[in-house]
Amino acid sequence: MAMLVTGGAGFIGSNFIRRVLSADPKAWIVDLDLLTYAGTEENLKDLPDGQRHSFVRGDIGDRALLADLLRRHRIDTIVHFAAETHVDRSLADPSPFFRTNVMGTLALLEAARGYWIREKPFPLEAVRFHHISTDEVFGSLSPEDPPFSETSPYAPSSPYAASKAAADHLVRAYFRSYGLPVTITHCSNNYGPRQFPEKLVALTIANALRGEPIPVYGDGGQIRDWLYVEDHCEAVRAVLARGKPGAIYLIGGGNQLTNLSLVEKVCGLMDELLPKSVHRPHAKLISPFADRPGHDRRYALDGSKIQRELGWSSRETLDSGLRKTVKWYRANPAWMRAVLGNPGHREWIAAHYGRRGNR
Ligand code: NAD
Ligand code: TYD
Repeated sequence: MAMLVTGGAGFIGSNFIRRVLSADPKAWIVDLDLLTYAGTEENLKDLPDGQRHSFVRGDIGDRALLADLLRRHRIDTIVHFAAETHVDRSLADPSPFFRTNVMGTLALLEAARGYWIREKPFPLEAVRFHHISTDEVFGSLSPEDPPFSETSPYAPSSPYAASKAAADHLVRAYFRSYGLPVTITHCSNNYGPRQFPEKLVALTIANALRGEPIPVYGDGGQIRDWLYVEDHCEAVRAVLARGKPGAIYLIGGGNQLTNLSLVEKVCGLMDELLPKSVHRPHAKLISPFADRPGHDRRYALDGSKIQRELGWSSRETLDSGLRKTVKWYRANPAWMRAVLGNPGHREWIAAHYGRRGNR
């Protein structure tokens, strides 16, 4: 397997690369990442069997670069994680989301079509374009609604979700129009090691470690289904190995709870795991914050298809996954310092949390 992973210096991409290098001894990985504020080479330190990984700093929108990488490395598998990913940033400035998530995905699809379909270096059964999407493209559920399924209609709420929805439609169209062998997965909210501390779980841990306010938007009653990142990576490996071209799967963690309950749970775990912390009880740091505009109330996924067809289900419970996550952040202060010191992060935190203030 000669794999191009896009966004491999980010949170999920770097965890995926680690998993593939340790579990798939025949896999070679080319990792294309622009190293935006969200990507860091810190995430690629101490890779298992790292000589099978090569890093290229570049933009997925650079068509000449893509064509060259695919040919030079005889890429037969593309796993596409690269994206602008933070909903709040998309509300502040949607344009980068459309540049990378839509036009970047288009460039990647065109490169794959040019190499695999026009040049035909391999039989089409031997290649795969896997696109990582999100549950957010389906919009918001109310408490009594059934969970999303693979056939739920698209109803994105934020510019981020709209850009991911547009990308999904392109990927689907390349399957239908050109026969490009694609698969798509829609996962729920991931958490785990190496997540940038702008997303809820990582932000909660980072702020609790430093005794800073933990912002909870609105009434904190929004429900998400939390998925441990390594479970997600295993699901993507299962889809690459056994998913049929054109197939779509939902990947959920089976852990639905409100944001406030989640943050309280993380704080409780930190009290237990850091008994000498001067910031105990960490829950006293929880601070109500102005709500996100258009905030989706609830996401929930029906994960029965991937379980039935590919035999995948999540292994970690919320408790075991959060414990691993808190322990990882506590054990990696150098990573945390590097990431928190990133100017793109500092400016965002000041502008976003400074501007909207406490409720
Ligand atoms: P992330 O923000 O941690 O990382 C994104 C990576 O993409 C970064 O390394 C960044 O440098 C890179 N990147 C951004 N623009 C690029 C460009 N133009 N060219 C090349 N590289 C570029 O994201 P993540 O949380 O790891 O998410 C990965 C994927 O999973 C995304 O497609 C996201 O939409 C999807 N997803 C994430 C979650 C989640 O909870 N994190 C949930 C559902 C879906
Ligand atoms: P987030 O981690 O940004 O992921 P997403 O928007 O992709 O689901 O947010 C998860 C939930 O946490 C979402 O309902 C918004 C909420 N949230 C807060 O309450 N406070 C925060 O500071 C952040 C970043 C998110």
